[in-house]
Amino acid sequence: MLCTFLLYLLCAIVAAENGSQGWLRYAPVSCEKACQDALPSSVVVLNNNETSPVYVAGQELQRGIQRIFNKTLPVNYGDCAASSIIVGTLGDYNCTHNTPEPDEDGFVLNTTGDTVQLLGQNQRGALYAAFEYLSMLAQGNFSRVAYTSNPHAPIRWVNEWDNMDGSIERGYAGPSIFFANGTVAEDLTRARDYARLLASIRINGIIVNNVNANATLLEARNIDGLRRIADVFRPYGVQIGISLNFASPQDFGGLDTFDSLNPSVVSWWENVTNQIYQRVPDLAGYLVKASSEGQPGPLTYNRTLAEGANVFARALQPHDGILMFRAFVYDNNLNESSWTADRANAAVDYFKPLDGEFEENVIVQIKYGPIDFQVREPASPLFANLNRTNVAIELQVTQEYLGQQCHLVYLPPLWKTVLDFDLQVDGKVSPVRDVIPGKTFNRPLGGWTAVVNVGTNTTWLGSHLAMSNLYAYGRLAWDPIVDSEDILQDWIRLTFGSDQHVLDTITEMSMASWPAYENYTGNLGEQTLTDIIYTHYGPNPASQDNNGWGQWTRADRQGIGMDRTVNNGTGYSGQYPAEVAQLYEDIDTTPDDLLLWFHHVNYTYRLHSGKTVIQHFYDAHYDGAETAHSFVDMWESLRDKIDQERYNDVLARLIYQAGHSIVWRDAITNFYHNLSGIPDEMQRVGHHPWRIEAESMTLSGYEPYAVYPFETASNATAIITSSNSTAGMASTTLSIPSGTYNLAINYYDLHGGESLWTVYRNDDQIGQWTGDTKLGHIPSTYLDGHSATRVTFRDIDLRPGDVLWIVGEPDGTEPAPLDYVALLPGGVVD
Ligand SMILES: *[C@@H]1O[C@H](CO)[C@@H](O)[C@H](O)[C@H]1NC(C)=O
Ligand SMILES: *[C@@H]1O[C@H](CO)[C@@H](O)[C@H](O)[C@H]1NC(C)=O
Ligand SMILES: *[C@@H]1O[C@H](CO)[C@@H](O)[C@H](O)[C@H]1NC(C)=O
Ligand SMILES: *[C@@H]1O[C@H](CO)[C@@H](O)[C@H](O)[C@H]1NC(C)=O
Ligand SMILES: *[C@@H]1O[C@H](CO)[C@@H](O)[C@H](O)[C@H]1NC(C)=O
Ligand SMILES: *[C@@H]1O[C@H](CO)[C@@H](O)[C@H](O)[C@H]1NC(C)=O
Ligand SMILES: *[C@@H]1O[C@H](CO)[C@@H](O)[C@H](O)[C@H]1NC(C)=O
Ligand SMILES: *[C@@H]1O[C@H](CO)[C@@H](O)[C@H](O)[C@H]1NC(C)=O
Ligand SMILES: *[C@@H]1O[C@H](CO)[C@@H](O)[C@H](O)[C@H]1NC(C)=O
Ligand SMILES: *[C@@H]1O[C@H](CO)[C@@H](O)[C@H](O)[C@H]1NC(C)=O
Ligand SMILES: *[C@@H]1O[C@H](CO)[C@@H](O)[C@H](O)[C@H]1NC(C)=O
Ligand SMILES: *[C@@H]1O[C@H](CO)[C@@H](O)[C@H](O)[C@H]1NC(C)=O
Repeated sequence: MLCTFLLYLLCAIVAAENGSQGWLRYAPVSCEKACQDALPSSVVVLNNNETSPVYVAGQELQRGIQRIFNKTLPVNYGDCAASSIIVGTLGDYNCTHNTPEPDEDGFVLNTTGDTVQLLGQNQRGALYAAFEYLSMLAQGNFSRVAYTSNPHAPIRWVNEWDNMDGSIERGYAGPSIFFANGTVAEDLTRARDYARLLASIRINGIIVNNVNANATLLEARNIDGLRRIADVFRPYGVQIGISLNFASPQDFGGLDTFDSLNPSVVSWWENVTNQIYQRVPDLAGYLVKASSEGQPGPLTYNRTLAEGANVFARALQPHDGILMFRAFVYDNNLNESSWTADRANAAVDYFKPLDGEFEENVIVQIKYGPIDFQVREPASPLFANLNRTNVAIELQVTQEYLGQQCHLVYLPPLWKTVLDFDLQVDGKVSPVRDVIPGKTFNRPLGGWTAVVNVGTNTTWLGSHLAMSNLYAYGRLAWDPIVDSEDILQDWIRLTFGSDQHVLDTITEMSMASWPAYENYTGNLGEQTLTDIIYTHYGPNPASQDNNGWGQWTRADRQGIGMDRTVNNGTGYSGQYPAEVAQLYEDIDTTPDDLLLWFHHVNYTYRLHSGKTVIQHFYDAHYDGAETAHSFVDMWESLRDKIDQERYNDVLARLIYQAGHSIVWRDAITNFYHNLSGIPDEMQRVGHHPWRIEAESMTLSGYEPYAVYPFETASNATAIITSSNSTAGMASTTLSIPSGTYNLAINYYDLHGGESLWTVYRNDDQIGQWTGDTKLGHIPSTYLDGHSATRVTFRDIDLRPGDVLWIVGEPDGTEPAPLDYVALLPGGVVD
C-alpha cells in the first residue's frame, strides 16, 4: 500500500504533453544563478504520516521544484531551518509567528522572511498553501508575499455521473476512472491523479457515482471498493461521498416498501449508513436525486421532499455526514396547451413551502438556472426563497448542452451572470454568491458543486482547452470575486507557458467563446435550441416544443418566447423578490438577452438594440459562426509555440467547431426563416452563392435523401448511396472564375459505419477522409444536426470547366452521406 503510493510519486514524474498532468505539469521556468541561489534549500514537513495531506504537500513541493528548477531539495521532518520551505498546520508550527488564524481549510502563505511558510488551519489547508506556492513558481512569480487565504464556503464538491458499468452519463472523455463491470475498478491510478488535480484547486469533496444511482453500489464488495477510493483521495484532503437510489430498501434490501415514514425503511438506511462508515469513516455524505425525471422518491408515497431527505440526514448525523438533496424536481409531463404551465416554476413551488423543515445537515443543491444548464438562464429564484435551509449551487463543467467539449466554451463568464446577480432580498444587496455560503440568510452550511464527469482519456475531459473550466470552477468556489479572465490566464500560463502571444491568443479565444456559442445556438434567453429529447448536442429547435419536458419556446408563425409574467403569463417572474420581479415583469426593463425567457413577442418586436428579434437571430448566428472560424486562425498562429501533440489535437477540434457552427447557424436561421417568412435584411439566409448542393450534382450510385429535421441539410436535402455496399459518385462541372478556393464539403458522420470519401478535380485527387471522428460528443445514427459536419481543403486552384467529383464508399449503416460543396474565396465564411 505505502510502497505503491511512493512508487506512484516517482513514476508520475515522467511527463508527456498528453494532458494527463493538467495544469500541474511544472514545466521548466528559466532561473539563472542568482535565482537558483535564492531558492530555498530544503523542505521541512511538519508531519511524517505518509498518508497525510501535509506529507503529500512535502512530496509535491519536492517534485514541483525539481521539475520547474531542476533542483532537488531534501525533505526533512524536523525543525524550521533557515532557508527552508516549512509546510504543516499552524498547530504543529512552534516557531514564532503572529499571523491571524485562518478559517477552516484556509492557509497562510508567507515568503517574506528567511523561510517560506505554508501553514494550514488544517492539513488540507497546508496542502492548498503548497499548491498555491508552486503555482506562483510555475508561473515565474517570485514576489515576496504574506497573506491569509480563506475559502468562500465550506462545501466545494464535484459530482461525477459515473455508472457502475463504467459508462458516464453526459461524459465525453471515455469510460469511468472509478467503475467497471458493475464494481469498483481495480486500478485507481487515474483516480489518484484526479485527487491531486482536485486538491490543487481546493475541492474537498467528490460524489463518485451518478445521481441516477444504482442500488447495487451498496453490495458489500462495492462498499469495500468505496473504501479503496476513499483511501486514494484521503491523502489529498478530498472526502468521497455517494449518490443513493431512493428505492434501495425495496429494490436492493428486499423490504416491501421504501416509504420514508416506515420504521423498517428508516432503520434499514441507518444500518446501511453505519456499514458504510465502518469502511469509510470520513465519508462526506450522500447525494440524493429523488422524485425527479422518473426517479423514485418520497412523492411516490405522498411524503414531502423534506420527509424523504431527513431520513438520510438523520442516519448521517452521528457520523457528521452531509446530505445534498437536489432541487431538480419537476413534472416532465406538462401540458403545453396551458399558457400558465411552466417547468421553471417547479423548484420554488416544491421547496419554498418546506423551508425550515429540513434537518440542519441537509443542503439543497440548486442548478444555477431554473431549467437545466442552458446557454443562458436567469438565476434560479429558489436562491432567494429559502431562508431557513442550507443551499449549494450546482454548476456543470461537463458541457452537456454547451458543445460537449467539441466546442470551445469557457464557462466562467456564464457562471458569473448568476453568481453576481443581485436578488435584492428584502431590498438589500444579495448576490447569489452571498446566498450560497450562507451569508445572506445566516446559514451554517452551504457552497458549491459542479458536475465534472472526467473520463479515462488522458485529457480528462476529452479536450485540452476544456480543462480551463475545471480549473476555474475550483478557483471560483474558493473566491467567486476573482475575475474570469485572471483565472483563465493563470491556467494558460500553467498549461501552455508564459509566452505573451500564447497568453493573449488563448485569452481572446476563450473569452469570446461563450458569447459566440450563445450567438450561433440560442439567443435572447431562448435556451440552447439543441435536441432536448435525443443527444443534447446539435441543433433541433422544434424538439423544444410539443412535449411534456417544458423547455418550450412557444414559437409559431407570429412570435416566440415564454410569457413568464405574473400579469398574463406563468407567474414565474413573481418568484423573485419584489425589485427583481418588477424588472422582469416589465418588458421594457427586461434585458434583451433574457427577453424571450420572460416574454412572448412577435418576431418583429424591437429590442433595446433597435433590431427586430428575427434580425437579431440572423445577425447573431452569422456573427457567432464568424467568431468560431476566427479561432482556427488564432490557434494556427501558435504553431511554433505549443508542442505538436496538443497543438494538433486542439486544432482538429477548432476546425470541427468552425464547421459545426455553420451547421448550427444554418439550421436555426433556416428554421425561423421558414416559420416566420421574414427575410434576412442582409440577404444571407437561404442565399448561398458559393454552394453546390449535392443533390444537384450528377449522381451515380447516389440518390437524394430528405433530411429530418429539414433545417439540418442545406436545401433540406442530402444524398446517400443507393446501396450500403457499393460506392456512389457525385460530379459537377464548375462554372466559377479561375482562382484559389477553400473547398468545404458538408457531410454526415453517423454512428454505425466509417465511410470513405475521396474528392477529385479532373484526374487529381484533392483529398480523402473517413466518417470516423471520435471527438467524444454523443453520436447520432441519423442524418441530422448532430452528425452534420464539414471537411475543408484549403487553397485549391480551380478553373471553369474543371470537373469536381466525389466518390463515397458506404460502410456499415453509414451510406456516405453528402450535403453540399462550398467553393469559398479566401476570407468568405459560408
Ligand atoms: C495518517 O493520516 C491519515 C490521514 O489524515 C489518518 O487517517 C491516519 O489516521 C494517520 N495515521 C496515523 C498513524 O496517525
Ligand atoms: C539539471 O541539473 C543537473 C545537475 O544537477 C545537470 O546535469 C542537468 O543538465 C540539468 N538539466 C537541465 C535540463 O538543465
Ligand atoms: C516543536 O516542538 C516540539 C516539542 O517541543 C519539537 O519536538 C519539535 O521539533 C518542534 N518542531 C519544530 C518544527 O520546531
Ligand atoms: C511573515 O514572516 C515574517 C518572517 O518570519 C514575519 O515577520 C511576518 O510577521 C510574517 N507575516 C505574516 C503576515 O504572517
Ligand atoms: C470487464 O469484464 C470483461 C468481461 O468479463 C473483461 O474483458 C474486462 O477486462 C473487464 N474490464 C475491467 C475494467 O475490469
Ligand atoms: C445496476 O447495476 C447492475 C449491475 O451492474 C445492472 O445489472 C443493472 O442493469 C443496473 N441498473 C440500472 C437501472 O442501470
Ligand atoms: C445491516 O447490514 C448488514 C450488511 O448489509 C447486514 O448484514 C445486516 O443484516 C444488517 N442488519 C440489520 C439489523 O438489518
Ligand atoms: C396519494 O394521494 C393521492 C391523492 O390524495 C391518492 O389518490 C393516492 O392514492 C395517494 N397515494 C399513496 C401511495 O398513498
Ligand atoms: C423568511 O422568508 C419568509 C417568507 O418566505 C419571511 O416571512 C420571513 O420573514 C423570512 N425570514 C427571514 C429571517 O428573512
Ligand atoms: C396574454 O395571454 C394570452 C394567452 O393566454 C395571449 O394570447 C395574449 O397574447 C397575451 N397578451 C399579452 C398582452 O401578452
Ligand atoms: C454576437 O452577436 C452579436 C449580434 O450580432 C454581435 O454584436 C457580437 O459581436 C457577437 N459576438 C460574438 C463573440 O460572436
Ligand atoms: C481521447 O479522446 C478522444 C476523443 O474524445 C480520442 O480521439 C482520443 O484518442 C482519446 N485519447 C486517449 C489517449 O484516450
